[in-house]
Amino acid sequence: MSERDAIEELSDLFVFLADHDFAGYSPTYERLARAIAADTQLLEFVATSASPNTRRGRIPVLFFAATHDRILANPESEIARVYRGESDSDPLKPFLELVELERESIVHNMRTRSVQTNEVGRSAGIALGMSALTLNDRDIALVEIGPSAGLNLFVDQWHANYLLNETVVRELGPTDSPIQLTCELRGDLIPPESRIGRISHRTGVDPAPIDASNATESRWLQACVWPGIPERPERLATALAVVSKNPPPLVQGDAVVDLIPLVETISPECVPVVLSTWALAYVSADGRETIQTSIDALGAKRDLALLTLEEPRFTPWIETPDELVNAYYEVGDGTPTVLGLRQWVNGKCSSRVLALCHPHVRWMQWLEEEADHG
Ligand SMILES: C[S@@+](CC[C@H](N)C(=O)[O-])C[C@H]1O[C@@H](n2cnc3c(N)ncnc32)[C@H](O)[C@@H]1O
Repeated sequence: MSERDAIEELSDLFVFLADHDFAGYSPTYERLARAIAADTQLLEFVATSASPNTRRGRIPVLFFAATHDRILANPESEIARVYRGESDSDPLKPFLELVELERESIVHNMRTRSVQTNEVGRSAGIALGMSALTLNDRDIALVEIGPSAGLNLFVDQWHANYLLNETVVRELGPTDSPIQLTCELRGDLIPPESRIGRISHRTGVDPAPIDASNATESRWLQACVWPGIPERPERLATALAVVSKNPPPLVQGDAVVDLIPLVETISPECVPVVLSTWALAYVSADGRETIQTSIDALGAKRDLALLTLEEPRFTPWIETPDELVNAYYEVGDGTPTVLGLRQWVNGKCSSRVLALCHPHVRWMQWLEEEADHG
């Protein structure tokens, strides 16, 4: 690809994010993304700041996180006030000033960090997926691909309310949890009454696992949060505080190579549930295929499950209704994200599409009619 094509592609990516992910959710990022998309010099800076092995589709969000980290380090700056919602100024000018001032640090962040957004809101989707498992009275060993700090490994400790027309129609998890999640239900179907089984192991593999108790690493997670969404920084801080008291053992590695050996350490009394939420997007197509085929091979030998909350193109083994997915791509309101469950029971494999969701599971459209999956 020529340099010019690469810049045009990057510009399109910023516009795509503005249209689909930031519009109606993070107005600050929507405004900035549209301005960056039209600023060739800045696009060149962003393109050359990312290390060559960064997946191209992830560069805009990485740039925003790298810059947000510097904004958090400059809490008195005008752009920090805008990000915290304390000022209504147009964010563009103070953002550009900050980028100019912090160029080197932004490049350093982009070269040494990756997008690690640990979005605890996703637990509202994961909880329903976990409740759909066939366990035959066995414990769950949760093994996450790309756990970041592992906040979603504690899905059974968070409380989620599912609202239809502003009325709670389902809930999961302890009502007195410090984390209270809310998910709006769309469409005609309501998830079945359910509960999560016993989770007796929590682990995961990530190239850069985050230590929830380390202030610098926690700041990087805060930097990955989009500005203008009031509850998210506080909710992240609360979840980090809970998890830092009893952090899960996370393996530093690449899921393509290190996932199966980790799953193989799980005792046969447990059902390993491999969880992947917005992580497969960061793995190459070959890597994703290797993960799927090696999990399938293991599933032929022992009961296990693969629970995914991913953009549908990254989980081709889950049959998603194309028309519905495309309709969501058209309206925006979050890149459509599919909650899918592939499970092996006694050597028999089944794949189920459970729901279509907002990437942070602010809303979901439940897709599965009640059925017997025993
Ligand atoms: C966008 S974050 C999502 C974190 C978490 N799953 C969540 O939903 O909150 C993507 C995570 O995937 C991790 N990751 C990227 N490539 C990976 C790989 N090859 N194997 C395992 N994890 C990977 C990143 O380090 C990062 O922590």
